Amino acid sequence: MITRRLPVGVLASGRGSNLQALIDHIEAGRLDAEIRVVVSDVKDAQALERARRHGIDACYIDPGPRRTILTAEAEERYVQCMRDHGVELIALAGFMRILKERFLAAHAGRILNIHPALLPSFPGLQAQRQAFEYGVKVSGCTVHFVDAGIDTGPIIIQASVPVRDDDTVASLSERILEEEHRIYAEAIQLFAEGRLRVEGRRVIIEGPRVEG
Ligand code: GAR
Repeated sequence: MITRRLPVGVLASGRGSNLQALIDHIEAGRLDAEIRVVVSDVKDAQALERARRHGIDACYIDPGPRRTILTAEAEERYVQCMRDHGVELIALAGFMRILKERFLAAHAGRILNIHPALLPSFPGLQAQRQAFEYGVKVSGCTVHFVDAGIDTGPIIIQASVPVRDDDTVASLSERILEEEHRIYAEAIQLFAEGRLRVEGRRVIIEGPRVEG
């Protein structure tokens, strides 16, 4: 049987380990998706290198002069790139800019993000450090739909990670990352299967859930 592969565009600003995990899940036949393009706002992002190594189109698109957002013109270029590649889902994988109206409107309900904390706690930057310094006993990660707020969209999957007494920010981040790599692929697979139904703030997963 030939399964349809969901065409995905990935936006990433840095190391790209979440991108790599998605590639690995796809190559192992565990994720019915095809990464059509990886776009970065950082010219020498390792994520671009990882994509090229797997024969995936990789583009740096100038974000414009602002530090935390893309300019409207830049957003237009990002939208066009997704369109040119026939992308149906955008996966933010360590993309460190806030997306605004133009991009959000062009891909309404079709943008996912992975965040390294149990939202709604610790949104924004350095979430693992925020959680560690706050002193929580359990942290984790969240895959959610992207809306106009900062890490505020409807939550699809979360995974918890206990904080140990002897943890450092680095050791905690490492264990959270392992869970990120697992649940991001799981969420995208559910999206690919058309099993995510959004009811207000709640995301209902239809059908039986096989956790991997
Ligand atoms: C990941 O921990 C991801 O959750 C986080 O950046 C890291 C990127 O790592 N994203 C955010 O903090 C977004 N607010 P990666 O480049 O190795 O995937």
